[in-house]
Formats: sequence, C-alpha cells, structure tokens
Amino acid sequence: MNRWIILCGLLWSIGNVSAAEPPKQATTVAQASSPGQILTLELGLDEGRASWRLSRFGEPLFAPSRLGFLLREGGKLERNLELVQHDLKTVDNTWEQPWGESRFVRDRHVQLTARFRETLGLRRTFDVVFRVFDDGIGFRYVFPKQDGFKFATIDDELTEFDLIPDATAWWIPAGEWNRYEYLYNTTPLREVGQVHTPMTVRTQNGLHLSFHEAALVDYSSMWLRRVENQRLKAQLSPAAEGWKVQRTLPFETPWRTVVIADQAGGLYESNLVLNLNEPNRLGDVSWFKPAKYVGVWWELHLEKSSWARGPKHGATTANTRRYIDFAAEHGFRGVLVEGWNPGWDGNWFGDGNHFDFTQATEDFDLKGLADYAKEHGVHLVGHHETGGAVSHYEQQLGPALDLYARHGIDVIKTGYVADAGQIERFDRKGGPVLREWHDGQWMSRHHLRVVTEAAKRRIAINPHEPIKDTGLRRTYPNWVAREGARGMEYAAWGNPQNPPEHEIDLVFTRMLSGPMDYTPGIVSLQGRTHPIPSTLARQLALYVVIYSPIQMVADLPEHYAQHKDAFQFIKDVAVDWSETRVLNGEVGDYVTIARKVRNSEAWYLGALTDEQGRVLTVPLSFLDPGRTYRAEIYRDGPKAHYRDRRFEFEVEQREVTAGEILTIRLAAGGGQAIRFVPISAQTPQEP
Ligand code: NOJ
Ligand code: CA
Repeated sequence: MNRWIILCGLLWSIGNVSAAEPPKQATTVAQASSPGQILTLELGLDEGRASWRLSRFGEPLFAPSRLGFLLREGGKLERNLELVQHDLKTVDNTWEQPWGESRFVRDRHVQLTARFRETLGLRRTFDVVFRVFDDGIGFRYVFPKQDGFKFATIDDELTEFDLIPDATAWWIPAGEWNRYEYLYNTTPLREVGQVHTPMTVRTQNGLHLSFHEAALVDYSSMWLRRVENQRLKAQLSPAAEGWKVQRTLPFETPWRTVVIADQAGGLYESNLVLNLNEPNRLGDVSWFKPAKYVGVWWELHLEKSSWARGPKHGATTANTRRYIDFAAEHGFRGVLVEGWNPGWDGNWFGDGNHFDFTQATEDFDLKGLADYAKEHGVHLVGHHETGGAVSHYEQQLGPALDLYARHGIDVIKTGYVADAGQIERFDRKGGPVLREWHDGQWMSRHHLRVVTEAAKRRIAINPHEPIKDTGLRRTYPNWVAREGARGMEYAAWGNPQNPPEHEIDLVFTRMLSGPMDYTPGIVSLQGRTHPIPSTLARQLALYVVIYSPIQMVADLPEHYAQHKDAFQFIKDVAVDWSETRVLNGEVGDYVTIARKVRNSEAWYLGALTDEQGRVLTVPLSFLDPGRTYRAEIYRDGPKAHYRDRRFEFEVEQREVTAGEILTIRLAAGGGQAIRFVPISAQTPQEP
C-alpha cells in the first residue's frame, strides 16, 4: 500500500501545475540570525518573486524556497513583488504552563517582519513574519487591511521547503480516509508523496528536522507534497467547495514551522510550536485537574460489551457503578462511559445522525451516577461520538454541554469516526449535505467552537479522530489532549496491530505536536484475536513516554487485579510535570524520557525499544546531587520478549544517587519504568 501511495504522490506532483519554478538566484533583501547565531534566515527576491533560505552554522540547509498564494480574486500573489519595509525584533521571555511536560517555557527568538507589495496591478500587500530560534524557525503570512483587497479565496498556498542535505523521512500519508491513523513509513525524503505534519526527517549528517505548523486557527491544515527532489510544498486540505481557505482581511495564516536539532530528543524538547501560539485566553483554568481515568471502554473494543443497547450494553448503571467503585478504591479521578446516549444501535460508524447528546439511554441513570461518583470523590468523563455527523452535533452542542455541566462533568472525550472518511456538513436551511475533510478550515472552526463553548462551562475537551494539534493548548488550555494517530485501540482489533516501533515513531512525530490520549496500560496484553506485541513493563513505561494530562488506565478492573505489582506503578505515576528530559533516543528505534513531578521532588523515567532488545546506559545526573532516592524499577525479565514471553517482569527497589550510571536492559518490544522517590534531604552544594 505504501508503494501505491508513493506512486500516486509522484503522479500527482508530475500532473500538478501550480508548483512554481524554484528560485535560482534570489538576491537577499533582509536577514535574521537566531539569538545564539546558530541559524540564519535570508529573505530573497528574484525578479519580483519572494523566497526564504536558511543556513545553520554557515552551511546552507534550505535552498531558496518560494513564498506566495494562488488567490481566486485578483490571481496569483507571487510575482512582481517589492520589499517596502522590514524590521527586526529580539524577544526573550519565559512563561508558565498551567500543566504540561514542563512548567516554564523560554521563548527566545529574533523576529523579522517583511512587508511586500505588488508593483503592478492591484498592488496588494502582505507581510511575512519570521521567528528565528536557535532550534528552528516559524513563519506566517499576515494580510493587513487594505483598499481593493477585502476578501481572499485561497486556491493554493505556494509556500515551499527545499531541503538541501539528503534525508530519511518518517511520515504518514495525508488526504487518506483514515485521517492520521496510519503506521509511519520510513523512506528517503525523495520518495515521499503527500504527507501529514509533523513529519520528521534525519539528514545524512545526523541532523534532525520536524516540519509542522503552529496556531491552526480558521485555516485549513497544511499537508506537505513533494514537488521534486527534496522540495516540499504546502498543500492545504481542501474545503468541500474546492477552495482551500476563505477569509476576510485582515487575517493571518498559521505559522509554518521547522524544528532543527542535532539529536532526535532535541525535537521533542523543543517548545517552538508552543511559543508560536498566543498566550492563554481563558484566564483561570485551575478548575481542570490533570488526572488518570478508567472507564467503560476496553471491554467495548474487546466486544465483551457493546455501545449499542441490548443484552450486551456496556453503559448500564450497574456496570458504571462497578467502574466508579474501582476508581474510588484506587484513587483515579475519572470514569469515562461510552455508549451512554441513544444513537449507537445502528451503523453509527457510517451515520452519526441518530446520536442524541441531550439524554441518556433508559438503562443509564446519568444523574444517579453523577451523584454516586461525587459521593465517592470520582468524576464522570463525558463522551460525544459524532460518527462524523458534525452539523448534527453542532445543532445540539449547547444543550449537550449544559447537560454535562449540570452534572458536574468537566472533561468530555469527543469522537469523529466517519466511515465515509469525511465529515458531514449541512446548513439549517435544508441545503445539500457537503463532505469535509477532518482537517480543513471548516473543521478547524468546528473544533474551536466546541473548545470555546466548553470553556464557558468549565469543561475540558479531548477529541479523538481530531484535527492535528498545533499547540493551541497554550491559548485554549481546556483543549487538554487528543488522539490523532493510531492509539491503543489498534491493539484490540487493528490489522495490523501497532508494532513496538510505532510508539517510538509517535514520540518523534505525532508527540511533537502535543499531548496524546493514547490510552495505555493494557496489562492483560491481549487483543480481541491477537496477543498485544508488548511486554508488561512496556505498558508502564508508556505512561511516562507518551505525555497527556489525562491518562487512561485502560484495561479492565479484573485484569489489574491479576497484575498487582504492575498496577502499583500505574496508581503511582504522575500526569503533570515540571521538567522533561529526553535522555536518549533514535527515531523508530528507542527512547528514554525522564520527567519531574509537578510540585514534588520525585522523578519518573520511561524507556521503550522497538522490535530489538537493547541495553541503554543512562546517567542519573538529572536527580539532585547529594541526595539519595529510592528507585522503584519495573523492568522486563531476563527472558522477556514481546512475542512469546510478554509477562516476564521484575520489580526491584534500591537506593540510587545522581552520580550513578544506570544500565537499562530492554527486551525486544520491551520497556522499563522507574519511580525515583527522594529519601534524604538535599545536601547543600558548594557554591
Ligand atoms: C474511536 C476512538 O478512538 C475510541 O476511543 C472510541 O472508543 C470509539 N471511536 C467510539 O467512539
Ligand atoms: Ca481512533
């Protein structure tokens, strides 16, 4: 299938006429270097056409790459340009996340704003704003208010990225029916077709780059399409009507981003995408509590129970009470219940128009359960599956959120499964049903509508089958997590399931965009028909490696009862961090991440490997010097293997200090999870 996609990509790019000739001899008209003089961005003009190029430590990294648009009104905005003004600004500030992988984020960059104007015709004007960080760049177009140019129908964005050194790419296809739920391909960059971002590449010299975008608001998602060699072009997800984006001026596009790091871990540690988003617009969001949750979920995917009503219905009052009791006993805050509302009985995958979000099924006592949960210090987690019928959902959105708010439900998982691969949109006046991609401008508006309406009611949102994350959690912190990749559900019924490499690929691709509701912790290691290709220790490590402020404890209560040792780690592990360090890692091979618990002195470490067993050595220098910690180590047994000895597992406790170098042995398809608890006070260090 991958070859087929590649071939289609090639044919498409040959047949496409909108890609411009690459600029040959652009004259530099403005430039900016990053604060630490690592990257230098040059803006060029060649015969009135604008381009950007980038060098790192003086070596060219991106050749001159086009800027511009194909607009329906007024035509191509790409030629006959002059630079009318430009200015530079240096920024260095630090801001605080309400929750996250780290508490404080430093934003240090040089901004170059350049204003271009057409010398002929309509004399349209636009700005290109570049932010040059030491670890990458972001740039966006800004269309100011102006005479004779009031409205833009964007038929194509002409932005290009022409990478010079040969590179290997990790990517999933874009413009395919299953949204982001594909396994990652590893190919030469010269062989990619049309891909989603984040896409990660590694050059022959070992430099790592991640292509993505930031602040995707009222615009369509950027896919990348290879034009020729290693020249990539922005390909905007099209609207049902055929155009890509429609906006009234003034407006600005999302930021096009490239994060650049020597090590793969540097991509993960970068805050560039978050820094390019606007600060929190919601004010006090302390009502949201990062937490773990359980729920009527894995049993549905195993087909032990059903979303549909009838004898197998999972979302009954009695079954939900069982999960509430389980959550209360073990200290988990949330209880998700899927299938609680009418609409699941027929083919909801293909038709979500029967969902009712304002009432529960007869056998689900919403009020009684919300009260019961509250009495036990637990909170129901709401669920809105749309089946892709998004206009139908929007018609009920206000009352649906009100219902949950009345019952104290402050987190909702939403869902956009659409068997047809596309979203159903209609207007109230009975016009035709239109089909939208899940990541076009219309859906970017929809998601923000849900998030902002939810925020008014102090509800957090966690969409599955979402639009990709572009760091908007900074601006709208109640957009706490999303799916947006193959999650654990593929272990239940996927064909193929997620191989061990997938989770490492996620760390260095999908996770560069933001938190993921991966739903780890399947300690029974058994899907519907196949064993899960994972060791037991690996399921624990996932809690540390795959970040989300809401983490599901996804397996069945009776399965946790059979794995008490492993369960202890799942009960202990935190979900909110003050610091994160990627201690080692290679895309597609292995990764080790250490995180310090927010408002605590404890640390956690998670390590994962692919199908290969390996030994990693990790200096514990992230711990406080001169302090003794109890390391609670959950690791693969000596004979563990993801195929046939999945449950071989050891727990060891011993004392460690920052001076130690830890040897981490990972079985094939395995993992390791460690909790570090300080057991002595910090000794003052010599100044
Ligand atoms: C797909 C989601 O990813 C999964 O978690 C959910 O259970 C189903 N849709 C049903 O909404
Ligand atoms: Ca899904």
